[in-house]
Amino acid sequence: MALGELDTDTNPLIAGLERLPVRSTAVIIFGATGDLAGRKLLPALYNLAHEGSLPEHIELAGVSRGDISDDAFRAQAREAIETFSRRPPNPEVLDGLLENARFVSGSFDDPDMYARLGQTLAGFDERAGQPLNRIFYLSTAPQFFPVIIGELGRHGLNQPTHPSSGGDVRVVIEKPFGYDLASALAQNEAVQAVFAESQIFRIDHYLGKETVQNLMALRFANALFEPVWNRNFIDHVQITAAEDLGIGGRAGYYEGAGALRDLVQNHMLQLLALLAMEPPTSFEANRLRDEKVKVLASIVPPDPTRVHEMSVRAQYGPGTVAGVNVPGYLEEPGVAPDSRTETYTALKLEISNWRWAGVPFYLRTGKRLARKLTEIAVTLKPVPHLAFQSEGSLGVQPNQIILTVQPDEGVSVSLGAKIPGTRMRIRPVNMEFHYGTSFLSESPEAYERLILDAMRGDATLFTRNDEIETLWGIIDPILAGWAADTDTPIPTYIAGSAGPAAADTLLRDTRWRRL
Ligand code: BG6
Repeated sequence: MALGELDTDTNPLIAGLERLPVRSTAVIIFGATGDLAGRKLLPALYNLAHEGSLPEHIELAGVSRGDISDDAFRAQAREAIETFSRRPPNPEVLDGLLENARFVSGSFDDPDMYARLGQTLAGFDERAGQPLNRIFYLSTAPQFFPVIIGELGRHGLNQPTHPSSGGDVRVVIEKPFGYDLASALAQNEAVQAVFAESQIFRIDHYLGKETVQNLMALRFANALFEPVWNRNFIDHVQITAAEDLGIGGRAGYYEGAGALRDLVQNHMLQLLALLAMEPPTSFEANRLRDEKVKVLASIVPPDPTRVHEMSVRAQYGPGTVAGVNVPGYLEEPGVAPDSRTETYTALKLEISNWRWAGVPFYLRTGKRLARKLTEIAVTLKPVPHLAFQSEGSLGVQPNQIILTVQPDEGVSVSLGAKIPGTRMRIRPVNMEFHYGTSFLSESPEAYERLILDAMRGDATLFTRNDEIETLWGIIDPILAGWAADTDTPIPTYIAGSAGPAAADTLLRDTRWRRL
């Protein structure tokens, strides 16, 4: 099956989407020597440069507490790009991107540092001969967000430099957006005290993934699916985000987060929202986000006293992943020996609206599972009547539409087909579309798409304040229910397995798909 290319000229939903110009921009990365900047942000900027997608003038400034020179920053950025870029860097393009890069060192609460940053940015404008747009990218630990935002405001760096002729200012904020509803509200308030919502780009990198956007193409560029996309035809939905990796060196963050905050509150509920929302009238940022908020607000709020009926949490124990023995979560460096942080969670959610009433949405995510797999599986109801002789009926399975987000990105639709031969025997077969073979080109990294969108000022794939708050409204009661139960031991699962047996108890008349 091929989805066909979306025609951006004639499809009314997406016409104009790619048209916003990318104006000359200064990108200022707070936390520029950190892990995310090195692995994702700098390589994404490089790949955009490589493709010629960056504007005529692009300037780069790194901000961080480390006391390093401009040259040392350039060398560090070069090494990160050489290590993590999805394509081998072209030395000329790399030189062009980094030759004027500047490093502004200082503590995030030091007013002098912001004065120096202001001078550096004015120097960028002078060299470009025009007021550049500015993107402040907050790639630091979340506790620094309020102070950075506050200082940017105090130094007037939140204001367009030339209100009538350019110099737009945007701020990109990395997750986590808060720790619970109360802290998310406080964070939104603090950011909105300094920046207008139209300047704020809260990034969820799942929305930049090619296959996640393909979910919208699948639903809204094909007449085939929409008629069955409802409670009359769909039996249930399973969304899986399994990882084989453990928590690596991130115990400091993960101990306070856990799987529910780390993956479900953001990435997985975003997948659910795109899958279940009503068709937006256009892909304009607010129209799309209105629909997401509407469907998220229709999720039946969990009852904290009954979370055991709709949620399972567990921790990985020791085991073997890809032939290597790995320790259990409690033995990971930096993890408290009596930690109750979940590394796995499975949920059963319901959406109380006309389209979805009664259709269970099962979500599961975990670290140290059998393999890395992110997929959405939509299972249709069985056919109403089987006219085949019993032999034929045996192999008839409900149709499934599987969207694989990663790895092996694509879509597969399972059908019942007759096994060749003189008898009527049926078994499921798959119609498959794979990105790799259909398009013969490598998909861009999620951060490439999202950084470019932020440069264009297109917030369609970014999360709005009310969306963040609605998401926490779903998560908070589960956290409250879990926090109230301090006695029941947290189930464990063997590292490298498909997760805890307890997760099966959530399912009604079905099983988890194989990992
Ligand atoms: C991040 C989480 O947001 O997403 C990580 O903090 C997780 O714990 C990662 O590993 C998964 O992203 P991806 O793109 O590898 O699926």
